[in-house]
Amino acid sequence: MRKAVERVVRVVFSPTGGTNSVANLLSVQIGEYDRQIDLTDAKLDFSREQVTPSEVAVIAAPSYGGRIPRLAAQRLAQVRGNGARAVVVSVYGNRDYEDSLVELQDVAQAAGFRVAAGVAAVAEHSIVHQYASGRPDERDVQRLSEIGNHVAQFLREEPCFQELTLPGNRPYKKDFRMSLVPQATSACTGCGICADHCPAQAVNHENPRSTDKSKCISCMRCVSICPHRARRPNRFVVWLAGLMIKSACSKRKEPELFL
Ligand SMILES: Cc1cc2nc3c(=O)[nH]c(=O)nc-3n(C[C@H](O)[C@H](O)[C@H](O)COP(=O)(O)O)c2cc1C
Repeated sequence: MRKAVERVVRVVFSPTGGTNSVANLLSVQIGEYDRQIDLTDAKLDFSREQVTPSEVAVIAAPSYGGRIPRLAAQRLAQVRGNGARAVVVSVYGNRDYEDSLVELQDVAQAAGFRVAAGVAAVAEHSIVHQYASGRPDERDVQRLSEIGNHVAQFLREEPCFQELTLPGNRPYKKDFRMSLVPQATSACTGCGICADHCPAQAVNHENPRSTDKSKCISCMRCVSICPHRARRPNRFVVWLAGLMIKSACSKRKEPELFL
């Protein structure tokens, strides 16, 4: 008997929206949207979040230096998977995703999910915007919808869950830490929107011009969300980062599916 349409829960860490776009493009093909667990939301108590065994989770995080952001891993680890099937998705800025996909698989499995598939896809680089600019684009939309359909079909066939082999190494690459703390410019009105939405609670609520360097994960959420375009990272560091990854980013990479 053919199974009813899957109910999809998106479990997503997406400071600047690229990961969210990819997760949405995949999810709509996999089943009916049910709800989202926003791993970027610092106010949520993730230990109260769970996915039921009959739901399918699309678990997506960006790749930072070939790893998943530590905050995303810590929050995902608290969500209860209850044996629900999951698709893990690593979104990167056209350089490389290295060990992010296997790390996401490991964290999801430890949280009780059964990982059935892995996807790696590209979105605009959230620091060096000239790389993967405008992605996911039309070509990605097409390919991600094919991938989503493929995954839906695979899940319908109810595969027996053998360990999925994904690209990447264990042990993973060294922990990634980037010191690129965006600063407020004179256009800052002190409205506090950046403080409200900082995934790491690094921006001070009383004085949004002040950021706690030790908490900032350089995710660029504050830069992308500011209505006054009043926050920016150091231009020289961004230029240098662009130069360092130029050759790795020069060739367009396409979305990949691993079953
Ligand atoms: C701190 C940081 C490190 C990053 N490291 C990489 C990387 O190693 N490789 C890569 O291809 N993209 C890298 N990126 C780009 C992001 O993975 C990519 O832009 C992703 O779409 C961002 O997700 P978001 O839009 O959901 O925030 C990095 C971005 C940030 C902010």
